[in-house]
Amino acid sequence: MSSPADTPQTPETTDSPRENGGNGESRANGSELVRFTNVTKRFGDVTVLDRLDFHVETGKHVTLIGPSGSGKTTILRLLMTLLTPDEGTITVDGDHLNHEERDGKLVKAGEKHVREVRKKIGMVFQQFNLFPNMKVLRNVTEAPVHVLGLSKDEAVERAKGLIELVGLSEHLDKYPSQLSGGQQQRVAIARALAMRPQVLLLDEVTSALDPELVAGVLDVLRDIAHTTDITMLCVTHEMGFARDISDCVMMFDQGRVVEFGPPDKMFSEPEHERTREFLSTVL
Ligand SMILES: Nc1ncnc2c1ncn2[C@@H]1O[C@H](COP(=O)(O)OP(=O)(O)OP(=O)(O)O)[C@@H](O)[C@H]1O
Ligand SMILES: [Mg+2]
Repeated sequence: MSSPADTPQTPETTDSPRENGGNGESRANGSELVRFTNVTKRFGDVTVLDRLDFHVETGKHVTLIGPSGSGKTTILRLLMTLLTPDEGTITVDGDHLNHEERDGKLVKAGEKHVREVRKKIGMVFQQFNLFPNMKVLRNVTEAPVHVLGLSKDEAVERAKGLIELVGLSEHLDKYPSQLSGGQQQRVAIARALAMRPQVLLLDEVTSALDPELVAGVLDVLRDIAHTTDITMLCVTHEMGFARDISDCVMMFDQGRVVEFGPPDKMFSEPEHERTREFLSTVL
């Protein structure tokens, strides 16, 4: 169905329209939200992403799989503007991430432009990176107040709703160090959603957790995936979870998309030997 350089077309789903829980605005499914065009990223002499092309449609949940070092985290870090591509362009909701148009030409984006576009993207990392000196509630209100300019009351109301969504209403007044790893990760999810990003990036968010805490975090994410219209790009080794939430699974190797498709097909009848080999190590 695809050669490695093809652009994945995330499959149409027959879902009823999702409630608008994650995004600030409701967007029509089917429009393109994230696009990588010919993106190359090198570290020194090593080419980590090699003329990568793919896109993700609004409201879809895409899982990135592939061996260690295949460039999955690099893709998410590029989207967070923690890295910049050496070649190629990335757009989110039609806006260039690293470039802006001046006099009809694409030039390197200024900091203000990058800051604005970055608001469309939220990320949850493997290590939760909470503010250790702030209680749960303030961890979630801090960026909406300081970055989005919400009033404190609005931010608190939004935060309380999200903290309830992740099942932590009892813990508003605790510091991160007083919570389990799974609870801290759920705060990190609420904190990312509080910015109402259009795209939520999840990078192996359960891999630092004790096994008994993994299910609770995955349940929260399943709930968010099934009850909101937020677009998700997710790197995970939890293949059962990937099967449950994904519209599309993309297999990467050596900085290229090897193949992509709906999870049932990818997990049961992958077309490429490289995908079969990889899945035999994780399924
Ligand atoms: N800041 C950096 N400097 C140099 N090399 C880097 C840097 N970040 C990543 N790399 C290299 O880029 C390649 C891709 O890394 P990346 O973290 O994207 O892989 P990954 O697919 O997320 O792997 P894993 O499944 O182990 O998390 C690796 O070879 C890695 O060593
Ligand atoms: Mg990684």
